[in-house]
Amino acid sequence: MSYTVVIFGASGDLTARKLILALFELHRKERLPRPMRIVGFSRTPMSDADWRKKLEESTRTFLKEAFDPALWETFAPLVHYHAGDIENSESFISLEQRLRQLESEGSEDGGNRLYYLSTAPQFYAHAIEQLGNAGMSSESEGNSRRVVIEKPFGTDLESARKLNESIHRVFAEHQIYRIDHYLGKETVNNVLVFRLANTIFEPVWNRNYIEHIQITAGEDGVVGRRAPYYEKAGVLRDMFQNHLLQLLTLTTMEAPSRFEAQAVRDEKVKVLRAIRAMSPNEVERNTVRGQYRTYRNEAGVAPGSLVATFGAVKLMIDNWRWKDVPVYLRSGKGMSCRTTQILIQFRQPPHIMFQGHSPSTHPANRLLIQIQPAEGIQLHFLTKVPDTEMKMRLTEFNFNFSNSFKGELPEAYQRLLLDAILGDASLFARSDEVEAAWDIIDPIQKTWDSDRLGDPDFYEIGSWGPGAAAKWIEQQGHHWFDLCPIV
Ligand code: BG6
Repeated sequence: MSYTVVIFGASGDLTARKLILALFELHRKERLPRPMRIVGFSRTPMSDADWRKKLEESTRTFLKEAFDPALWETFAPLVHYHAGDIENSESFISLEQRLRQLESEGSEDGGNRLYYLSTAPQFYAHAIEQLGNAGMSSESEGNSRRVVIEKPFGTDLESARKLNESIHRVFAEHQIYRIDHYLGKETVNNVLVFRLANTIFEPVWNRNYIEHIQITAGEDGVVGRRAPYYEKAGVLRDMFQNHLLQLLTLTTMEAPSRFEAQAVRDEKVKVLRAIRAMSPNEVERNTVRGQYRTYRNEAGVAPGSLVATFGAVKLMIDNWRWKDVPVYLRSGKGMSCRTTQILIQFRQPPHIMFQGHSPSTHPANRLLIQIQPAEGIQLHFLTKVPDTEMKMRLTEFNFNFSNSFKGELPEAYQRLLLDAILGDASLFARSDEVEAAWDIIDPIQKTWDSDRLGDPDFYEIGSWGPGAAAKWIEQQGHHWFDLCPIV
């Protein structure tokens, strides 16, 4: 049985920057099933040799001194190229012929295929339809046909539904792998291990012990050359609908009985559906919309653009575990530093027996899950300061991946590509999950886009977002945990 990864949008940035690097690394680790081939598809006319050369150059540039030319020599023969137009059905017929020919060279019983849509999103539905018309989606024993769809999956609930409908006309749900690269990050996967493979955390993981949760994905980079895309997306579509809501589900979902695609995704959908819907007035009260001060000067940004480069959103989960525990999500470009973190703020102890101390004078326990870049977990707790009568200070237990494990953490795409090749969809979003996420984001986006809000709150590049966001959370009796991780 052979395996073929067909990459649509082969000459694009993502292919060279992520997909080929991940496949090359999997090849180095001898994790790719064999026989394996990678077929690039895009409009630019090129031979196999041309594409191999191009990919060798880009891979060498990305890997620098880590590039191993001898290893590349063993990888290059797996790589093939087929020129074609995604809008032209003839191209799909010739691609099918080419794939069959390659498959027949490898083994006699056909083979498994993974179609990777790494094209511009407006071509997703089109490519899927063409795959269907060319008979390239039907499976049989030992001949799986899977399709990976990059983000963004739709731009709102309606477009996501339509896209799901057009995909389902050609592929069954078990064949569809919707990517959110955050789900391929080791530290993101560790959230479930931390919560559910250790006895001591799960009993306190609820409204009785947790006061609120903050999930922050800050980026110091600005929008730059991605402005044309960003103008249509903004922070809610770019970071909240996918990455932040995925972090929220992993932090708050109930324990599935098995780590298996159906069970995991059932629980994620349940918690997403338990998030309280917001009216426009509630959106105004429960969100902050910001824009870094120089955004409107960037090339490709409309004068007077209202697009948010920063967002802070308070969500409430209406279920037994989380009733009345606010979950604050926050993300922005042009912030103080790059940090993605989940902060679990525990409640104050009910009573402090030491004289002169009260809960209000001391911070309560908190747990900080650092997703990146200083991957690790810290538990903050009060300790008696030595040589004082009974002075207390917050100290921490500190776990770092880099101290406990050797080697660099693998890139998210390695795990995701391998899972998709091997047919494990646990780390991919299901159709109802994507729609449930849009259902949460849509009313916020609509209110932000309406006339009622006026200009966003501006903030300086290199700050933690607009002052309004700090004031807003303080009015609710909380503070942002604004600390750049030490890498
Ligand atoms: C992408 C967004 O999905 O995620 C980008 O489109 C963002 O705007 C990126 O920068 C962040 O990913 P990571 O892995 O660098 O945190």
